[in-house]
Amino acid sequence: MNLNLTNKVAIVLAASKGLGKAIATSLSAEGAKVIIGSRDENELAKTAAEIHGITGNEVIAIPVDVSNGEAVKEFIEQAAAKFGRIDILLNNAGGPSFNKFENFDDDAWQKAFELNLLSFARTSRLVLPHMQKTGSGRIINIISGSVKAVLASSVLSTAMRMGVVGMAKLMADEFGPYNITVNNVAPGMILTDRLKHTIPQGIDPEQALAEKAKNIPLGRIGKPEELAALVTFLASEHAAYISGTTIQVDGGASRGIF
Ligand SMILES: NC(=O)c1ccc[n+]([C@@H]2O[C@H](COP(=O)([O-])OP(=O)(O)OC[C@H]3O[C@@H](n4cnc5c(N)ncnc54)[C@H](OP(=O)(O)O)[C@@H]3O)[C@@H](O)[C@H]2O)c1
Repeated sequence: MNLNLTNKVAIVLAASKGLGKAIATSLSAEGAKVIIGSRDENELAKTAAEIHGITGNEVIAIPVDVSNGEAVKEFIEQAAAKFGRIDILLNNAGGPSFNKFENFDDDAWQKAFELNLLSFARTSRLVLPHMQKTGSGRIINIISGSVKAVLASSVLSTAMRMGVVGMAKLMADEFGPYNITVNNVAPGMILTDRLKHTIPQGIDPEQALAEKAKNIPLGRIGKPEELAALVTFLASEHAAYISGTTIQVDGGASRGIF
């Protein structure tokens, strides 16, 4: 299947590494002009150069902290000015911290809200006029399998991402008439630094990952490019009639039926 994203402009947030980087690489490989954003300017520039080296297509790096409203506004303005259009928005951010419910104070809740829910609302609101102007668009949110099954110590993730699920459903309803689709992709365990950092010190990483994989029907941890493949499909014309959904990429790990 040729996903052909030539002439499309994609914003990919939280993209210096991990899932965001894999998604930016995959979109770029399909011909999209990609604008990536995350906080560390040097890491971001390195990633942009690396992706360009692989795909040969233009990749622009603009540093941004997605939890800072002013910075996000400036980022979207700069991104829109770069190629004069925005076709694809990939919302993503660092994950909230893991702990028991009783250990999170108001400050932790506020930070998680700004990073994992408000940031997605802001970027979506800011790209909307650009997508309305071209008469089409794709908004894709990276959330977590924690919206489908309880994952220990993930109350901040679950609470914020359930908000994204509700928001995306509403946005799919309101944006449909503009030919803009809105979908969520929910990773299970995908091998990135975030997952590696959950392994307690002193434990052999390979053994720990093998242990985690035991509960996954496909018997292994996922690869970032496997999640990126779904996002790239959702970003393409082939997914024009898919909107308002949450799709898991978890090797079958979530046993819930709904
Ligand atoms: N990997 C998994 O198995 C998995 C499973 C479920 C959910 N998720 C979720 O998927 C998302 C991505 O995870 P990942 O595994 O790709 O993580 P990762 O490998 O740790 O990468 C995180 C990326 O986010 C950027 N970032 C962090 N905070 C940011 C901020 N405030 N503003 C802008 N960029 C920011 C980081 O760059 P800077 O630090 O330079 O900003 C980096 O590029 C997270 O929300 C995570 O919770 C992942």
